[in-house]
Amino acid sequence: MTVRDLPSREAYDALKAQNLKLNMQRGQPSDADFDLSNGLLGILGEHDYLAGKLDTRNYPGGVQGLPEARELFGEYLDVPAAQVLVWNNASLELQAFALTTALLHGLRGSPELWVRLAGKPKMIVTVPGYDRHFLLLETLGFELLSVEMQDDGPDLDAVERLAADATVKGMLFVPTYSNPGGETVSAEKARRLAGLKAAAPDFTIFADDAYRVHHLFENDRHEAVNLIRLCAEAGHPDRAVVFASTSKITFAGAGLGFMASSEANVAYFSKFLSAQSIGPNKVEQLRHVRFLRQYPGGVEGLMRRHAELLAPKFQAVHEVLSQELGENGEYATWKTPKGGYFVSLDTALPVASRVVQLAEDAGVSLTPAGATYPGGHDPHDRNIRLSPSRPPADEVRAAMRAVATCIKLASEEYRAQQPGSAQ
Ligand SMILES: Cc1ncc(COP(=O)(O)O)c(C=O)c1O
Repeated sequence: MTVRDLPSREAYDALKAQNLKLNMQRGQPSDADFDLSNGLLGILGEHDYLAGKLDTRNYPGGVQGLPEARELFGEYLDVPAAQVLVWNNASLELQAFALTTALLHGLRGSPELWVRLAGKPKMIVTVPGYDRHFLLLETLGFELLSVEMQDDGPDLDAVERLAADATVKGMLFVPTYSNPGGETVSAEKARRLAGLKAAAPDFTIFADDAYRVHHLFENDRHEAVNLIRLCAEAGHPDRAVVFASTSKITFAGAGLGFMASSEANVAYFSKFLSAQSIGPNKVEQLRHVRFLRQYPGGVEGLMRRHAELLAPKFQAVHEVLSQELGENGEYATWKTPKGGYFVSLDTALPVASRVVQLAEDAGVSLTPAGATYPGGHDPHDRNIRLSPSRPPADEVRAAMRAVATCIKLASEEYRAQQPGSAQ
């Protein structure tokens, strides 16, 4: 019997009686994912600290990262090593650094510091989107302008309209397997974005390419675009700044973040970075280079192993939701991503916050409703981000049955409250 066949209150009471304790809140890798990279921990021997002639234990080396690491992540982002800066754990820190640089010093070609604009600087973001992008931008004092994330990337008609205002300084979005919908910007849209006519001469595309190679299926994948090359070809060589990290490749809490742009931009950012630090953790960079270079098939090989662990969980989400709620959209629709870390679900009725509350009360922790919109406010109260990466597949199944039960109850409660309802 599925959730659809049972009276919804009865199904929910039965769910609560199970005393579940499941967490589908954050996009963390599982321990099995981490175990794939445990080789990192012992890869450097006791006297093994030289990168070429450079002693990774000492200060010298500069702020742009080990040449070997810039080479490796240049290949990863499909740009020359000279256009890459490899830093410490967390690409979010680099995003904060680039945005803060723009605010306090301006970017190359800026007519003024972004903090000196009359009114708040404005930044375009895609919705539904990543809550930490919103938090970062809001914390730094940006006004956020939302555009819809479509199946082939951001709504560019909306972006073009907004970019006609000179206080709109750029956009921050996830170009490949976006968080939470899994959309990838098409080559056509990426070219249009690269050539966009913006009123601000320093309009910048901040592309958080966190899921660039995070395919779930070997033979059904999205190709990542090369925004840096496309912007250069369109005559805007400094327009794209791309960020990524190994957080979902090796260790989420102990990886490497890196960024890439034009060579001139890398030199510009390095100037400010070297005022705040003598350099990044070079031992960690050496470990990552050794480990990822020697892994069978390199980064691609490692990502195939992650996909083997992750794909069944994403399949479980789709199977259980289809079974329990049907696929006609009566209760909800959801994306079936080809990569990335999330599933974006929209309830048919404005009940997302009620669903999350019901799930919480039944022991299933979901990402707060509204988190996928700036200010934590979903104007339609419909979007829920599901994060199936960390729990084992059987827990994902149990959590999805619970979510389906809560969606059904919340929808029926909502209908019953409408004027003219027979109940
Ligand atoms: C789009 C996106 N960017 C960045 C991050 C975090 O990256 P990092 O650990 O490199 O700061 C995440 C984590 O969920 C993410 O989804």
